[in-house]
Amino acid sequence: MPRIKRSSLPPGPRGRLLPTIHLLRDPLKHFAKWAARYGDPFTVVSPSGYLIETWDPESVRALFTANHDAFAVFGPETIEPLIGARSVLLLVGQEHRRERRLLGPPFHGARMRAYGEAMVETTRAAIAGLSPGDRLVGMELTQSISLEIIIRTVFGVASAADVDVHKATILAAIESASPLVFFFPWLRHEFGGIGPYARLKAAQDRFIALLRRQIAAVRPRAAEREDILSMMLEARYDDGAPMSDAAIVDELRTLLLAGHETTALSLAWALDLVHRDRAVYERLVAELDALGPAPSAEAIAAAPFLEAVCQETLRLYPIVLEVMRTLTQPLTLAGRVLPAGATVAVNILLAHRRPEAYPDPELFRPQRFLERTFSPFEFMPFGGGPRRCVGAAFALFEMKLVLATILRELELELELQGPPTPVRRNLTMAPKGGVRMRVRRRRGASARGAAVAP
Ligand code: HEM
Repeated sequence: MPRIKRSSLPPGPRGRLLPTIHLLRDPLKHFAKWAARYGDPFTVVSPSGYLIETWDPESVRALFTANHDAFAVFGPETIEPLIGARSVLLLVGQEHRRERRLLGPPFHGARMRAYGEAMVETTRAAIAGLSPGDRLVGMELTQSISLEIIIRTVFGVASAADVDVHKATILAAIESASPLVFFFPWLRHEFGGIGPYARLKAAQDRFIALLRRQIAAVRPRAAEREDILSMMLEARYDDGAPMSDAAIVDELRTLLLAGHETTALSLAWALDLVHRDRAVYERLVAELDALGPAPSAEAIAAAPFLEAVCQETLRLYPIVLEVMRTLTQPLTLAGRVLPAGATVAVNILLAHRRPEAYPDPELFRPQRFLERTFSPFEFMPFGGGPRRCVGAAFALFEMKLVLATILRELELELELQGPPTPVRRNLTMAPKGGVRMRVRRRRGASARGAAVAP
Protein backbone atom coordinates (compact mmCIF):
# COMPACT_ATOMS: atom_id res chain seq x y z
CA MET A 1 0.00 0.00 0.00
CA PRO A 2 1.29 3.50 -0.80
CA ARG A 3 2.03 5.77 2.15
CA ILE A 4 -0.70 8.34 2.62
CA LYS A 5 -0.17 12.01 3.39
CA ARG A 6 -2.42 13.04 6.29
CA SER A 7 -2.99 16.39 4.50
CA SER A 8 -4.66 14.57 1.58
CA LEU A 9 -7.43 13.32 3.86
CA PRO A 10 -10.44 15.12 5.39
CA PRO A 11 -9.83 16.76 8.80
CA GLY A 12 -10.53 14.96 12.06
CA PRO A 13 -9.46 14.50 15.69
CA ARG A 14 -5.71 14.66 16.29
CA GLY A 15 -3.59 11.80 17.56
CA ARG A 16 -3.58 8.06 17.04
CA LEU A 17 -4.12 6.49 20.44
CA LEU A 18 -6.52 8.93 22.09
CA PRO A 19 -9.31 8.75 19.46
CA THR A 20 -9.14 4.94 19.63
CA ILE A 21 -9.47 5.02 23.42
CA HIS A 22 -12.38 7.48 23.15
CA LEU A 23 -14.14 5.22 20.67
CA LEU A 24 -13.62 2.16 22.85
CA ARG A 25 -15.03 3.96 25.88
CA ASP A 26 -17.98 5.91 24.48
CA PRO A 27 -18.42 5.66 20.71
CA LEU A 28 -21.79 7.42 20.69
CA LYS A 29 -20.56 10.55 22.40
CA HIS A 30 -17.32 10.90 20.46
CA PHE A 31 -18.67 10.15 17.00
CA ALA A 32 -21.42 12.73 17.60
CA LYS A 33 -18.88 15.29 18.85
CA TRP A 34 -16.56 14.86 15.84
CA ALA A 35 -19.49 14.87 13.41
CA ALA A 36 -20.59 18.24 14.83
CA ARG A 37 -17.04 19.63 14.74
CA TYR A 38 -15.76 18.42 11.37
CA GLY A 39 -18.87 17.52 9.37
CA ASP A 40 -19.07 14.69 6.80
CA PRO A 41 -16.52 13.22 6.08
CA PHE A 42 -13.95 13.24 8.87
CA THR A 43 -10.83 11.14 9.42
CA VAL A 44 -9.96 9.05 12.47
CA VAL A 45 -6.55 7.41 12.81
CA SER A 46 -6.94 3.82 14.03
CA PRO A 47 -4.22 1.26 14.85
CA SER A 48 -4.97 -0.42 11.49
CA GLY A 49 -4.90 2.75 9.37
CA TYR A 50 -6.83 5.88 8.35
CA LEU A 51 -10.62 5.67 8.57
CA ILE A 52 -12.64 8.20 6.62
CA GLU A 53 -16.03 8.32 8.30
CA THR A 54 -19.06 9.15 6.16
CA TRP A 55 -22.82 8.90 6.69
CA ASP A 56 -24.33 11.17 4.05
CA PRO A 57 -26.82 9.05 2.01
CA GLU A 58 -25.27 10.05 -1.33
CA SER A 59 -21.78 9.00 -0.22
CA VAL A 60 -23.19 5.79 1.27
CA ARG A 61 -24.96 5.09 -2.04
CA ALA A 62 -21.74 5.75 -3.97
CA LEU A 63 -19.82 3.35 -1.76
CA PHE A 64 -22.37 0.53 -1.61
CA THR A 65 -22.96 0.62 -5.37
CA ALA A 66 -19.26 0.99 -6.35
CA ASN A 67 -17.36 -1.87 -7.94
CA HIS A 68 -16.33 -3.92 -4.91
CA ASP A 69 -13.37 -5.45 -6.74
CA ALA A 70 -11.61 -2.18 -5.93
CA PHE A 71 -11.92 -2.78 -2.17
CA ALA A 72 -9.82 -4.81 0.25
CA VAL A 73 -10.83 -6.08 3.70
CA PHE A 74 -9.91 -3.78 6.60
CA GLY A 75 -7.58 -5.28 9.25
CA PRO A 76 -8.06 -8.97 8.21
CA GLU A 77 -5.26 -10.12 10.54
CA THR A 78 -7.34 -9.18 13.59
CA ILE A 79 -10.16 -11.65 12.96
CA GLU A 80 -8.43 -14.39 10.98
CA PRO A 81 -7.47 -16.38 14.10
CA LEU A 82 -11.19 -16.69 14.89
CA ILE A 83 -12.66 -17.50 11.49
CA GLY A 84 -9.89 -18.87 9.28
CA ALA A 85 -8.49 -17.57 6.00
CA ARG A 86 -11.24 -19.09 3.80
CA SER A 87 -14.03 -17.16 5.52
CA VAL A 88 -16.42 -15.17 3.30
CA LEU A 89 -15.63 -12.18 5.53
CA LEU A 90 -12.03 -12.21 4.30
CA LEU A 91 -12.54 -13.09 0.64
CA VAL A 92 -12.60 -10.36 -2.01
CA GLY A 93 -13.51 -10.00 -5.70
CA GLN A 94 -14.46 -13.09 -7.69
CA GLU A 95 -13.77 -15.47 -4.77
CA HIS A 96 -16.14 -13.47 -2.56
CA ARG A 97 -18.91 -13.48 -5.18
CA ARG A 98 -18.50 -17.23 -5.68
CA GLU A 99 -18.80 -17.90 -1.95
CA ARG A 100 -21.81 -15.60 -1.53
CA ARG A 101 -23.71 -17.44 -4.27
CA LEU A 102 -23.39 -20.58 -2.17
CA LEU A 103 -24.02 -19.10 1.28
CA GLY A 104 -26.96 -16.87 0.35
CA PRO A 105 -29.76 -19.35 -0.49
CA PRO A 106 -30.01 -21.15 2.90
CA PHE A 107 -30.75 -17.80 4.54
CA HIS A 108 -33.73 -16.93 2.39
CA GLY A 109 -37.36 -17.70 1.70
CA ALA A 110 -39.03 -20.90 2.78
CA ARG A 111 -35.76 -22.49 3.91
CA MET A 112 -35.02 -19.78 6.39
CA ARG A 113 -38.59 -19.84 7.67
CA ALA A 114 -38.20 -23.54 8.52
CA TYR A 115 -35.97 -22.40 11.40
CA GLY A 116 -38.88 -20.57 13.08
CA GLU A 117 -39.88 -23.61 15.10
CA ALA A 118 -36.39 -24.00 16.59
CA MET A 119 -36.29 -20.27 17.39
CA VAL A 120 -39.60 -20.32 19.29
CA GLU A 121 -38.93 -23.64 21.04
CA THR A 122 -35.42 -22.63 22.14
CA THR A 123 -36.77 -19.41 23.64
CA ARG A 124 -39.63 -21.15 25.43
CA ALA A 125 -37.25 -23.72 26.93
CA ALA A 126 -34.81 -21.00 28.06
CA ILE A 127 -37.51 -19.14 30.03
CA ALA A 128 -39.55 -22.15 31.17
CA GLY A 129 -37.97 -22.25 34.61
CA LEU A 130 -38.49 -18.57 35.45
CA SER A 131 -40.99 -17.72 38.22
CA PRO A 132 -42.37 -14.44 39.61
CA GLY A 133 -39.68 -12.61 41.60
CA ASP A 134 -36.77 -14.24 39.72
CA ARG A 135 -34.01 -11.91 38.53
CA LEU A 136 -32.26 -12.21 35.22
CA VAL A 137 -29.75 -10.39 33.04
CA GLY A 138 -31.47 -9.86 29.68
CA MET A 139 -28.22 -10.03 27.72
CA GLU A 140 -27.22 -13.37 29.28
CA LEU A 141 -30.63 -14.80 28.43
CA THR A 142 -30.52 -13.61 24.81
CA GLN A 143 -26.90 -14.78 24.41
CA SER A 144 -27.80 -18.25 25.56
CA ILE A 145 -30.86 -18.35 23.26
CA SER A 146 -29.05 -17.05 20.18
CA LEU A 147 -26.13 -19.43 20.70
CA GLU A 148 -28.45 -22.42 20.93
CA ILE A 149 -30.37 -21.28 17.84
CA ILE A 150 -27.13 -21.21 15.82
CA ILE A 151 -26.05 -24.61 17.15
CA ARG A 152 -29.40 -26.12 16.16
CA THR A 153 -30.21 -24.35 12.88
CA VAL A 154 -26.75 -23.66 11.46
CA PHE A 155 -24.67 -26.56 12.80
CA GLY A 156 -27.63 -28.96 12.72
CA VAL A 157 -27.12 -30.34 16.24
CA ALA A 158 -30.31 -32.01 17.53
CA SER A 159 -29.92 -33.74 20.91
CA ALA A 160 -29.86 -31.69 24.12
CA ALA A 161 -26.63 -33.41 25.26
CA ASP A 162 -24.85 -32.58 22.00
CA VAL A 163 -26.11 -28.98 22.17
CA ASP A 164 -24.53 -28.71 25.64
CA VAL A 165 -21.18 -30.05 24.38
CA HIS A 166 -21.20 -27.48 21.56
CA LYS A 167 -22.16 -24.67 23.92
CA ALA A 168 -19.31 -25.47 26.32
CA THR A 169 -16.72 -25.74 23.55
CA ILE A 170 -17.87 -22.51 21.87
CA LEU A 171 -17.95 -20.55 25.13
CA ALA A 172 -14.38 -21.70 25.88
CA ALA A 173 -13.33 -20.59 22.37
CA ILE A 174 -15.02 -17.19 22.85
CA GLU A 175 -13.42 -16.70 26.27
CA SER A 176 -9.98 -17.55 24.91
CA ALA A 177 -10.15 -14.63 22.47
CA SER A 178 -8.05 -12.13 24.43
CA PRO A 179 -8.20 -8.61 22.94
CA LEU A 180 -4.40 -8.38 23.43
CA VAL A 181 -3.88 -10.88 20.63
CA PHE A 182 -5.93 -8.78 18.24
CA PHE A 183 -4.25 -5.47 18.97
CA PHE A 184 -0.62 -6.68 19.22
CA PRO A 185 0.40 -8.89 16.25
CA TRP A 186 3.72 -9.81 17.88
CA LEU A 187 1.74 -11.70 20.56
CA ARG A 188 0.45 -14.08 17.89
CA HIS A 189 3.04 -16.79 18.64
CA GLU A 190 2.60 -19.88 20.72
CA PHE A 191 5.73 -19.39 22.88
CA GLY A 192 6.04 -23.12 23.68
CA GLY A 193 2.35 -23.56 24.51
CA ILE A 194 1.93 -20.72 27.01
CA GLY A 195 0.47 -17.22 26.72
CA PRO A 196 -2.80 -15.84 25.29
CA TYR A 197 -2.22 -16.95 21.69
CA ALA A 198 -1.45 -20.55 22.70
CA ARG A 199 -4.67 -20.57 24.75
CA LEU A 200 -6.65 -19.12 21.86
CA LYS A 201 -5.16 -21.61 19.41
CA ALA A 202 -5.86 -24.60 21.68
CA ALA A 203 -9.50 -23.55 22.25
CA GLN A 204 -10.01 -22.88 18.53
CA ASP A 205 -8.47 -26.27 17.65
CA ARG A 206 -10.93 -28.02 19.98
CA PHE A 207 -13.80 -26.12 18.34
CA ILE A 208 -12.56 -27.00 14.84
CA ALA A 209 -12.27 -30.69 15.79
CA LEU A 210 -15.86 -30.63 17.07
CA LEU A 211 -17.07 -29.02 13.83
CA ARG A 212 -15.26 -31.66 11.77
CA ARG A 213 -17.00 -34.41 13.77
CA GLN A 214 -20.34 -32.67 13.21
CA ILE A 215 -19.68 -32.44 9.45
CA ALA A 216 -18.92 -36.18 9.36
CA ALA A 217 -22.11 -36.95 11.31
CA VAL A 218 -24.36 -34.82 9.09
CA ARG A 219 -22.87 -35.72 5.67
CA PRO A 220 -24.58 -39.11 5.09
CA ARG A 221 -28.09 -37.60 5.40
CA ALA A 222 -27.40 -34.04 4.28
CA ALA A 223 -29.84 -34.28 1.35
CA GLU A 224 -32.83 -34.84 3.66
CA ARG A 225 -31.95 -32.25 6.27
CA GLU A 226 -32.77 -28.55 6.55
CA ASP A 227 -29.94 -27.14 8.65
CA ILE A 228 -27.47 -24.73 7.07
CA LEU A 229 -24.52 -27.13 7.41
CA SER A 230 -26.42 -29.73 5.35
CA MET A 231 -27.12 -27.13 2.70
CA MET A 232 -23.44 -26.24 2.52
CA LEU A 233 -22.61 -29.93 2.08
CA GLU A 234 -25.13 -30.19 -0.76
CA ALA A 235 -24.22 -26.89 -2.45
CA ARG A 236 -22.09 -26.76 -5.59
CA TYR A 237 -20.05 -23.92 -7.05
CA ASP A 238 -20.75 -22.91 -10.67
CA ASP A 239 -18.12 -25.40 -11.88
CA GLY A 240 -19.89 -28.24 -10.04
CA ALA A 241 -17.31 -28.51 -7.23
CA PRO A 242 -18.48 -28.97 -3.61
CA MET A 243 -17.20 -26.89 -0.73
CA SER A 244 -14.16 -28.45 0.96
CA ASP A 245 -14.50 -29.45 4.61
CA ALA A 246 -11.87 -26.84 5.49
CA ALA A 247 -13.96 -24.10 3.82
CA ILE A 248 -17.12 -25.31 5.57
CA VAL A 249 -15.34 -25.20 8.94
CA ASP A 250 -14.27 -21.60 8.31
CA GLU A 251 -17.79 -20.57 7.22
CA LEU A 252 -19.37 -22.22 10.27
CA ARG A 253 -16.95 -20.31 12.52
CA THR A 254 -17.80 -17.13 10.58
CA LEU A 255 -21.56 -17.59 10.92
CA LEU A 256 -21.11 -18.08 14.66
CA LEU A 257 -18.90 -15.01 15.04
CA ALA A 258 -21.10 -12.80 12.85
CA GLY A 259 -24.47 -14.11 13.97
CA HIS A 260 -24.38 -14.96 17.66
CA GLU A 261 -23.37 -11.88 19.61
CA THR A 262 -24.93 -9.44 17.12
CA THR A 263 -28.42 -10.91 17.39
CA ALA A 264 -28.13 -11.42 21.16
CA LEU A 265 -27.14 -7.81 21.79
CA SER A 266 -29.85 -6.45 19.49
CA LEU A 267 -32.36 -8.47 21.48
CA ALA A 268 -30.96 -7.21 24.78
CA TRP A 269 -31.38 -3.61 23.56
CA ALA A 270 -34.92 -4.41 22.42
CA LEU A 271 -35.82 -5.84 25.84
CA ASP A 272 -34.53 -2.67 27.47
CA LEU A 273 -36.20 -0.21 25.09
CA VAL A 274 -39.59 -1.92 25.05
CA HIS A 275 -39.79 -2.13 28.84
CA ARG A 276 -38.69 1.49 29.23
CA ASP A 277 -41.64 2.85 27.24
CA ARG A 278 -45.07 1.91 28.60
CA ALA A 279 -47.00 2.96 25.46
CA VAL A 280 -44.74 0.92 23.18
CA TYR A 281 -44.92 -2.07 25.53
CA GLU A 282 -48.71 -2.03 25.69
CA ARG A 283 -49.17 -1.60 21.95
CA LEU A 284 -46.75 -4.42 21.23
CA VAL A 285 -48.24 -6.86 23.75
CA ALA A 286 -51.78 -6.05 22.46
CA GLU A 287 -50.63 -6.80 18.92
CA LEU A 288 -49.05 -10.10 19.97
CA ASP A 289 -52.05 -11.17 22.09
CA ALA A 290 -54.39 -10.42 19.18
CA LEU A 291 -52.60 -13.15 17.20
CA GLY A 292 -54.49 -15.70 19.30
CA PRO A 293 -53.32 -18.57 21.47
CA ALA A 294 -51.17 -20.45 18.94
CA PRO A 295 -49.97 -18.28 16.07
CA SER A 296 -47.50 -19.67 13.55
CA ALA A 297 -43.97 -18.32 13.44
CA GLU A 298 -44.88 -16.63 10.15
CA ALA A 299 -47.92 -14.91 11.68
CA ILE A 300 -45.75 -13.58 14.51
CA ALA A 301 -43.09 -12.38 12.09
CA ALA A 302 -45.72 -10.57 9.99
CA ALA A 303 -46.90 -8.43 12.95
CA PRO A 304 -46.17 -4.86 11.76
CA PHE A 305 -45.54 -3.14 15.09
CA LEU A 306 -43.22 -5.96 16.19
CA GLU A 307 -41.19 -5.44 13.02
CA ALA A 308 -41.13 -1.68 13.61
CA VAL A 309 -39.90 -2.23 17.19
CA CYS A 310 -37.02 -4.41 15.96
CA GLN A 311 -36.09 -1.95 13.21
CA GLU A 312 -36.18 1.03 15.58
CA THR A 313 -33.96 -0.90 18.03
CA LEU A 314 -31.46 -1.58 15.23
CA ARG A 315 -31.63 2.09 14.20
CA LEU A 316 -30.97 3.52 17.64
CA TYR A 317 -28.39 0.95 18.71
CA PRO A 318 -26.86 -0.58 15.58
CA ILE A 319 -24.69 -3.39 16.92
CA VAL A 320 -22.06 -2.97 14.22
CA LEU A 321 -21.18 0.73 14.31
CA GLU A 322 -19.33 1.02 11.01
CA VAL A 323 -18.70 -1.02 7.88
CA MET A 324 -15.33 -0.54 6.24
CA ARG A 325 -14.09 -0.65 2.66
CA THR A 326 -10.32 -0.32 2.15
CA LEU A 327 -9.41 1.37 -1.15
CA THR A 328 -6.97 -0.42 -3.44
CA GLN A 329 -7.23 2.47 -5.92
CA PRO A 330 -8.26 6.13 -5.52
CA LEU A 331 -11.99 6.77 -5.12
CA THR A 332 -13.92 9.99 -5.64
CA LEU A 333 -16.46 10.53 -2.90
CA ALA A 334 -18.58 13.71 -2.66
CA GLY A 335 -16.23 15.43 -5.13
CA ARG A 336 -13.09 14.55 -3.19
CA VAL A 337 -10.43 12.11 -4.37
CA LEU A 338 -9.48 9.69 -1.59
CA PRO A 339 -6.14 7.86 -1.95
CA ALA A 340 -5.54 4.12 -2.23
CA GLY A 341 -4.69 2.61 1.15
CA ALA A 342 -7.24 4.68 3.07
CA THR A 343 -10.38 3.02 4.40
CA VAL A 344 -13.84 4.48 3.99
CA ALA A 345 -16.11 3.67 6.94
CA VAL A 346 -19.87 4.01 6.54
CA ASN A 347 -20.77 5.27 9.99
CA ILE A 348 -24.05 3.49 10.69
CA LEU A 349 -24.45 5.11 14.09
CA LEU A 350 -24.34 8.63 12.62
CA ALA A 351 -26.43 7.71 9.56
CA HIS A 352 -29.16 6.38 11.87
CA ARG A 353 -29.26 9.62 13.82
CA ARG A 354 -29.54 12.10 10.94
CA PRO A 355 -32.39 14.42 11.94
CA GLU A 356 -33.30 14.94 8.25
CA ALA A 357 -34.38 11.30 8.05
CA TYR A 358 -35.23 10.68 11.69
CA PRO A 359 -36.80 13.66 13.50
CA ASP A 360 -35.98 13.54 17.25
CA PRO A 361 -33.33 10.93 16.48
CA GLU A 362 -32.58 10.19 20.14
CA LEU A 363 -36.16 9.05 20.77
CA PHE A 364 -37.25 5.42 20.56
CA ARG A 365 -40.24 5.78 18.21
CA PRO A 366 -41.03 2.51 16.39
CA GLN A 367 -43.97 4.23 14.64
CA ARG A 368 -41.51 6.03 12.37
CA PHE A 369 -41.01 2.74 10.53
CA LEU A 370 -44.77 2.52 9.94
CA GLU A 371 -45.02 6.12 8.76
CA ARG A 372 -42.37 5.99 6.04
CA THR A 373 -39.91 3.75 4.25
CA PHE A 374 -36.22 4.43 4.61
CA SER A 375 -33.77 3.87 1.77
CA PRO A 376 -30.89 1.36 2.15
CA PHE A 377 -28.59 4.40 2.31
CA GLU A 378 -30.46 5.84 5.32
CA PHE A 379 -31.12 2.65 7.28
CA MET A 380 -28.37 0.04 7.12
CA PRO A 381 -27.96 -1.99 10.34
CA PHE A 382 -26.80 -4.89 8.15
CA GLY A 383 -24.40 -2.88 5.97
CA GLY A 384 -25.00 -2.76 2.22
CA GLY A 385 -23.95 -3.61 -1.32
CA PRO A 386 -22.39 -6.97 -2.24
CA ARG A 387 -21.09 -7.48 1.32
CA ARG A 388 -24.43 -6.85 3.05
CA CYS A 389 -24.99 -9.24 5.97
CA VAL A 390 -25.76 -12.76 4.70
CA GLY A 391 -27.87 -13.43 7.78
CA ALA A 392 -29.97 -10.23 7.77
CA ALA A 393 -33.32 -11.93 7.12
CA PHE A 394 -32.45 -14.72 9.57
CA ALA A 395 -31.47 -12.18 12.25
CA LEU A 396 -34.61 -10.07 11.91
CA PHE A 397 -36.78 -13.21 11.92
CA GLU A 398 -35.01 -14.43 15.06
CA MET A 399 -35.31 -11.06 16.79
CA LYS A 400 -39.05 -10.98 16.14
CA LEU A 401 -39.70 -14.56 17.28
CA VAL A 402 -37.53 -14.43 20.40
CA LEU A 403 -38.86 -11.04 21.54
CA ALA A 404 -42.48 -12.03 20.85
CA THR A 405 -42.11 -15.34 22.69
CA ILE A 406 -40.59 -13.68 25.76
CA LEU A 407 -43.30 -10.98 25.86
CA ARG A 408 -46.10 -13.49 25.37
CA GLU A 409 -44.82 -15.71 28.18
CA LEU A 410 -43.47 -13.33 30.79
CA GLU A 411 -44.27 -9.98 32.31
CA LEU A 412 -40.90 -8.44 33.12
CA GLU A 413 -39.73 -5.19 34.70
CA LEU A 414 -36.42 -3.36 34.49
CA GLU A 415 -34.33 -3.05 37.63
CA LEU A 416 -32.45 0.04 36.44
CA GLN A 417 -34.44 3.24 36.03
CA GLY A 418 -32.18 5.30 33.74
CA PRO A 419 -31.30 4.11 30.22
CA PRO A 420 -28.11 1.99 30.11
CA THR A 421 -24.90 3.45 28.71
CA PRO A 422 -23.75 1.83 25.48
CA VAL A 423 -20.35 0.21 25.99
CA ARG A 424 -18.03 -1.31 23.42
CA ARG A 425 -17.80 -5.13 23.39
CA ASN A 426 -15.17 -6.09 20.83
CA LEU A 427 -16.57 -4.62 17.61
CA THR A 428 -20.13 -4.30 18.89
CA MET A 429 -22.07 -1.98 21.22
CA ALA A 430 -23.73 -3.47 24.30
CA PRO A 431 -25.97 -2.06 27.06
CA LYS A 432 -23.81 -1.57 30.18
CA GLY A 433 -24.87 -3.98 32.93
CA GLY A 434 -26.55 -6.26 30.38
CA VAL A 435 -30.21 -5.19 31.11
CA ARG A 436 -31.09 -6.42 34.59
CA MET A 437 -34.73 -7.48 34.91
CA ARG A 438 -37.19 -9.13 37.30
CA VAL A 439 -40.09 -11.44 36.49
CA ARG A 440 -43.42 -9.94 37.62
CA ARG A 441 -45.60 -12.83 36.51
CA ARG A 442 -45.92 -15.57 33.95
CA ARG A 443 -48.53 -14.74 31.39
CA GLY A 444 -47.97 -17.08 28.45
CA ALA A 445 -49.07 -20.52 27.47
CA SER A 446 -50.36 -21.61 30.87
CA ALA A 447 -52.32 -18.36 31.34
CA ARG A 448 -53.93 -18.64 27.90
CA GLY A 449 -54.12 -22.41 27.90
CA ALA A 450 -52.14 -22.89 24.71
CA ALA A 451 -48.61 -22.72 23.40
CA VAL A 452 -47.00 -20.60 20.73
CA ALA A 453 -46.87 -23.04 17.88
CA PRO A 454 -44.18 -22.90 15.23
C1 HEM B 1 -28.94 -8.28 14.48
C2 HEM B 1 -28.02 -9.12 14.04
C3 HEM B 1 -26.99 -8.81 13.00
C4 HEM B 1 -26.45 -7.60 12.62
C5 HEM B 1 -26.76 -6.22 13.20
C6 HEM B 1 -25.48 -7.88 11.57
C7 HEM B 1 -24.75 -6.89 10.92
C8 HEM B 1 -23.82 -7.16 9.93
C9 HEM B 1 -23.05 -6.14 9.26
C10 HEM B 1 -23.14 -4.64 9.51
C11 HEM B 1 -22.23 -6.76 8.37
C12 HEM B 1 -21.22 -6.11 7.43
C13 HEM B 1 -21.91 -5.77 6.13
C14 HEM B 1 -21.11 -4.91 5.18
O1 HEM B 1 -19.86 -4.97 5.20
O2 HEM B 1 -21.73 -4.16 4.40
C15 HEM B 1 -22.49 -8.20 8.47
C16 HEM B 1 -21.86 -9.16 7.71
C17 HEM B 1 -22.10 -10.51 7.83
N1 HEM B 1 -23.04 -11.11 8.63
FE1 HEM B 1 -24.33 -10.17 9.90
N2 HEM B 1 -25.45 -9.22 11.33
C18 HEM B 1 -26.36 -9.84 12.16
C19 HEM B 1 -26.66 -11.18 12.21
C20 HEM B 1 -26.09 -12.15 11.42
C21 HEM B 1 -26.47 -13.54 11.42
C22 HEM B 1 -27.58 -14.15 12.27
C23 HEM B 1 -25.63 -14.18 10.55
C24 HEM B 1 -25.58 -15.63 10.17
C25 HEM B 1 -25.95 -16.61 10.95
C26 HEM B 1 -24.75 -13.18 9.98
C27 HEM B 1 -23.75 -13.43 9.05
C28 HEM B 1 -22.97 -12.47 8.45
C29 HEM B 1 -21.91 -12.77 7.48
C30 HEM B 1 -21.48 -14.14 7.01
C31 HEM B 1 -21.37 -11.53 7.09
C32 HEM B 1 -20.23 -11.30 6.10
C33 HEM B 1 -20.77 -10.96 4.73
C34 HEM B 1 -19.70 -10.68 3.69
O3 HEM B 1 -18.60 -10.22 4.03
O4 HEM B 1 -19.99 -10.91 2.49
N3 HEM B 1 -25.06 -11.95 10.53
N4 HEM B 1 -23.46 -8.41 9.42
